[in-house]
Amino acid sequence: MLSLEKLQVSYGAVQAVRSLDLTVGEGELVALLGPNGAGKSSTIGAITGLVPSKGRVLLGGTDISMLPAESRIAKGLAISPEGRRVFANLTVGENFRMGAALRRDRAGVRDDTERFLDMFPVLRERFAQPAGTLSGGEQQMLAIARALMSRPRLLLLDEPSLGLAPLIVTKIFDFIGELKASGLTLLVVEQNAAQAMRFADRVYILSTGEVRFVGTPADLEGTDLMSVYVGG
Ligand SMILES: Nc1ncnc2c1ncn2[C@@H]1O[C@H](COP(=O)(O)OP(=O)(O)OP(=O)(O)O)[C@@H](O)[C@H]1O
Ligand SMILES: [Mg+2]
Repeated sequence: MLSLEKLQVSYGAVQAVRSLDLTVGEGELVALLGPNGAGKSSTIGAITGLVPSKGRVLLGGTDISMLPAESRIAKGLAISPEGRRVFANLTVGENFRMGAALRRDRAGVRDDTERFLDMFPVLRERFAQPAGTLSGGEQQMLAIARALMSRPRLLLLDEPSLGLAPLIVTKIFDFIGELKASGLTLLVVEQNAAQAMRFADRVYILSTGEVRFVGTPADLEGTDLMSVYVGG
């Protein structure tokens, strides 16, 4: 589904990502772990086209490296960015509609809206309220729901648990597990390795822009890589 080949991201003299090879198979959930500054968000930015990069990004076998961000979204990518960015001045309902802006199947949009409001009932209560007035956890739920409203083939989640209470984190990862069970392909960036590994098929550990480990969560057990690179 997704293939990164020799991906490089630089900011001036700072090399944030160095020649990264990474794949996410259809229906797979891949966790991208690593310490602060490892290059995780830069990788996500390069996939979406919001951050300039070198190397190749393939989606479903097609090279999308040269496409602008909007065209990549139209090809089935969706992102819930770091820091749960929602349209603060728009209502919850309008944020849902923004997520579905490229869709023409109105009945499907209605069904999906209902599905995600059932999943996160608090968003139903706040439906007509500006998104900026939601709590941090509520904004995270909205950011994920909004990304899903485009019916993506591949969902990118950048630190869905950041700054949230443990109970909400568990709830959000339960939901991520359901998304995977429904067949969605996911690439999830996380600091909370334990949560991310609950449903991960494979794990990449990134540090200073380079891959330090690729394998299954079981492969990772019994190594000291987690304590060395992720601290947990
Ligand atoms: N716009 C930018 N200009 C200059 N340097 C940047 C920029 N964005 C990121 N960097 C640097 O690139 C490196 C990788 O940053 P990135 O945001 O990808 O890390 P990360 O793995 O997502 O970290 P975190 O876990 O803290 O979110 C860092 O050293 C960061 O300081
Ligand atoms: Mg980041």
